[in-house]
Amino acid sequence: MNKAFEKFDLTGKTALITGAAGLLGVEHAAALLESGATVVLTDIDDSNLAATRASLSLNADPERIVVQLMDVSRLDTIQAVAKKLANTGRRIDVLVNNAAIDPKVQADLGVLETSRLEYFPLDQWESQLVVGLTGAFLCSQVFGTAMARDGVGGVILNIASDLSVVAPDQRLYRKKGLACDMQPVKPVTYSVIKAGLVGLTRYLATYWADSGVRANALSPGGVFNGQGEAFVQRLNSLIPLGRMAKRDEYRAALQFLCSDASSYLNGQNIVIDGGRSVW
Ligand SMILES: NC(=O)c1ccc[n+]([C@@H]2O[C@H](COP(=O)([O-])OP(=O)(O)OC[C@H]3O[C@@H](n4cnc5c(N)ncnc54)[C@H](O)[C@@H]3O)[C@@H](O)[C@H]2O)c1
Repeated sequence: MNKAFEKFDLTGKTALITGAAGLLGVEHAAALLESGATVVLTDIDDSNLAATRASLSLNADPERIVVQLMDVSRLDTIQAVAKKLANTGRRIDVLVNNAAIDPKVQADLGVLETSRLEYFPLDQWESQLVVGLTGAFLCSQVFGTAMARDGVGGVILNIASDLSVVAPDQRLYRKKGLACDMQPVKPVTYSVIKAGLVGLTRYLATYWADSGVRANALSPGGVFNGQGEAFVQRLNSLIPLGRMAKRDEYRAALQFLCSDASSYLNGQNIVIDGGRSVW
């Protein structure tokens, strides 16, 4: 290996990724596999998990790809997965808290727009927070505690968003012909969860620092994934680089943040958003 990349090497390490069957989960996994890690892909979506494993196996040794159904909102399932992994002698060295419920913003003509704060349903507030924020807490509690206890340490990476540092620009989601109070918006839960993850990151970073557990957050900007032209044009105009991210543009950050290459980085929120949040 080129000497410049030695600190990025994750050979012999195991990384567990939550929400691994989604758009970015598979990219995180590909990045960590490329660095030599074994990955444990966890999600609630059984069929997408199997498809993710199959696609990753095209470029990596399938023996380094483990899949586990795991609901981050349920402590009993997380503990069961942790136990199962421990029983097979697998230590989790890296935890990537990535799972989220990210409801797409869309309006139904003439129907009360429940994404709006005035009407936002309590059950949606609770179900989104329990996955995006409580889930990260529970996984950190289970896997972080194990990392801290055996004296080896590890890395926790929380996947936040550019909306952890700026408010959503609700003009992005406007639909023609709808009254102001019927316009769809990015829901309040998203901002609360992502800012909460940054708080959790700082807490964890100091809590287990003397046990060798580092915690950081990665805040990606929006990834282009076939969104409507009008939306993309509006969003592009808010980004100094003039475009949304490609889905593989966070891979190198994952490799840096989850390895010894970032050994002195702790408690930070790394915002990679094409410059959106500095405008
Ligand atoms: N895609 C983007 O543009 C973007 C931008 C900024 C931040 N992010 C963040 O990156 C992360 C990944 O985003 P994505 O676009 O891949 O989302 P995604 O919706 O494609 O994937 C999320 C995954 O989480 C899983 N999930 C949902 N509930 C779960 C639960 N209870 N337990 C376990 N898994 C569960 C889903 O099944 C899904 O596979 C999220 O935290 C998201 O907020 C994404």
